[in-house]
Amino acid sequence: MTADHPAPDPAHPTSRKTGATRATAQAVLPLDGPEAEVTAPPEPVLRRARFLAAELARHNYLYHTLDAPEISDDAYDALYNELAVLERRWPMLAGEQSPTAKVGGRLLEGLAKERHRQRMYGLDNVFSVSGWREFTERMRRAWDERLNGPIPLVFWCDPKLDGLAVELVYEHGELRKALTRGDGETGELVTEAVRTMDSVPRVLEAGGGAFPDLLEVRGEAVMFREDFARLNARQEALGLKTFANPRNAAAGSLRQLDLSVMETRPLRFLAYSLGAVDWGNCAPSLTQGELMARLTAWGFLTPPDGRLCAGVEQVEAYAEWVRANRTGFPMEIDGAVAKLDDLEAQEVLGFTARAPRFAVAFKFPAIQAQTVLDAIEIQVGRTGALTPVAVLQPVAVGGVMVSRATLHNEDEIHARDVRVGDTVIVQRAGDVIPEVVGPVLEKRPPDALPFRFPHACPACGEPVHREPGEAAWRCDNLACPARRLRAITHFVSKAGLDIQGVGEKWVEQLVTAGRVQSPADLFTLREEDLLGFERMGETLARKFLAALETARSTATLARLLCALGIRHVGEQTARLLAARFRDLDELAAASTETLLELPDIGPEVAASIRYFFATPANRVVLEHLRARGLWPVSSGADAQATPLSGKTILFTGTLPLPRARAQALAEAAGAIPVGGVSRKLDYLVAGEKPGSKLDKARALGIPILDGEGFRRLLAGAGVEVPSDFLQK
Ligand code: IVH
Repeated sequence: MTADHPAPDPAHPTSRKTGATRATAQAVLPLDGPEAEVTAPPEPVLRRARFLAAELARHNYLYHTLDAPEISDDAYDALYNELAVLERRWPMLAGEQSPTAKVGGRLLEGLAKERHRQRMYGLDNVFSVSGWREFTERMRRAWDERLNGPIPLVFWCDPKLDGLAVELVYEHGELRKALTRGDGETGELVTEAVRTMDSVPRVLEAGGGAFPDLLEVRGEAVMFREDFARLNARQEALGLKTFANPRNAAAGSLRQLDLSVMETRPLRFLAYSLGAVDWGNCAPSLTQGELMARLTAWGFLTPPDGRLCAGVEQVEAYAEWVRANRTGFPMEIDGAVAKLDDLEAQEVLGFTARAPRFAVAFKFPAIQAQTVLDAIEIQVGRTGALTPVAVLQPVAVGGVMVSRATLHNEDEIHARDVRVGDTVIVQRAGDVIPEVVGPVLEKRPPDALPFRFPHACPACGEPVHREPGEAAWRCDNLACPARRLRAITHFVSKAGLDIQGVGEKWVEQLVTAGRVQSPADLFTLREEDLLGFERMGETLARKFLAALETARSTATLARLLCALGIRHVGEQTARLLAARFRDLDELAAASTETLLELPDIGPEVAASIRYFFATPANRVVLEHLRARGLWPVSSGADAQATPLSGKTILFTGTLPLPRARAQALAEAAGAIPVGGVSRKLDYLVAGEKPGSKLDKARALGIPILDGEGFRRLLAGAGVEVPSDFLQK
């Protein structure tokens, strides 16, 4: 690929960044002049700044630590920019604790931490040619020409990879450690996980010349799109959690504690810069471009289509070319990065509190459109959470018609200050679902009022409440018709019993007609009940009833548990419970202590299960299910006599059969495969090169089996052991 394309349009007028910032910032007060104020900010500004700082901290945590972002990068950028604007005007708002002075996420419990020798910085973003030119102007101003001569405006440019920043530490050419970026100062040690990646050289290749005694290579761990699609398909087939995008899959894979899982995750490391280096007495004089060549020679992959751009305009053309070709890259990219090619000049310019002065990310603008916000509708979910939804006049955004978009929660509505009647900016960034960025204040009707979140459930009229620390308002009324409708829809959906042909539309009609009030009522339906509905003929009615009958007679306990929609009980937990308890009676009788003994069940999940079974309305539904014959008995618990039923098992090291297969066999014997060693672990099966899990299990006195021991357990549990087992 080449980059010799004309420069893109000048300043991007619909930049989400500038558009959103102005729109939301003006909601507090007009920000005409950029000069800093020495006086204290007025109270509304202070409140707004505090709110923005708290929101940004929350979103940082969701994104960097939990890998579960709630809002798009662009929405985040809008909040960030608004705070930065306020801080520029009232510098006393800024400080070390402000999110604008920090690099990234907080650290996750569970992984060991270590300080970086050199701080790992983020990059500042620009979203338009004008933003880029301002950046180069700032660079010029920071450069002392009298001291350093003219600034060498030659840039090494490459695509901005959307993955997880990682630092690899090599000593005398050997990989010693790998760290995530963490909060920039301290990262999480992911050495063992990184060692499972083929693209990471364990030992530097000789082609790159002499090795520095110490070499820290920085880059991005990414998952290629194709690999991501395959991974998700496999996860789905195994009934496991699927990932929202390759970045989350990459981050989640690298930072989860079970290496056996990591081995099945196709991650790649692409190198783009260095951290600390000790060249001894052979420090070469390199440019960024030469460094990339050297990294390749040492055995690293580097971002594709990197290129040298002589001058500011060539960078613009390169960024435009990357944007136009973004879907052709094998991995997700979200912009282009321009770095001064001269490494000495990089050193001269140095860093601000957050980012280098010599490099910037040229990010892709999202596709935006304007439309009118007709209403804010409140949806009641099956757990009672109230979600505000923007009802929009339909508008095409990048070829997709958009008429509804979630507004997430009360705080998000206020953060964006959107009001019914406003003309709003709607955008789609990358593959993200459409979102409302903010209002176009110039077009705000004079009578548009701030949105007041209802304090009564729109479906049943009962008061709603919001727990401290929670974003959502909730309706706690189990008889609430909206909750019931959602609960029944969930019950029949793919995530529940997956009852073919009994979809949301039919459920809605049946509930509205009063014929079905709980999932159990579905199993009392007769042909004549159905024939009254429009477009329901005899054939369809029979199919409908047959599907219900199939579900009734084939439902497993695990599936039924998923279908009941107990808060915090997803597929994984449902399987675990079904392996431990014989039926819903046994589970309902389980004490909190018994539940807490199970792996992966913490106080919140245990409390939620107890609450579900203690709720009288739920008990009524369960009795009806029993009366209608939907009362599965778990096969795992049935096999009480087998040594594996309900037992937790963990595999480590290289086994004589693929790990997924070993886990499936263990599950077939009623065991519960888990991810880590804890006191709750019943068996550890250790293959070759087992690593630290074996030591930990030994220290806790957990029974340890080799492959043969595992085979015997399986045989004892009546599970047929495949003939090729242990053959190698
Ligand atoms: S160079 C001094 N090049 O994006 C920082 N970074 O959002 C030099 N990133 O912190 C970084 N692709 O982790 C560079 N081609 C690329 C990149 C890249 C992705 C990451 C990097 C940075 C983050 C900022």
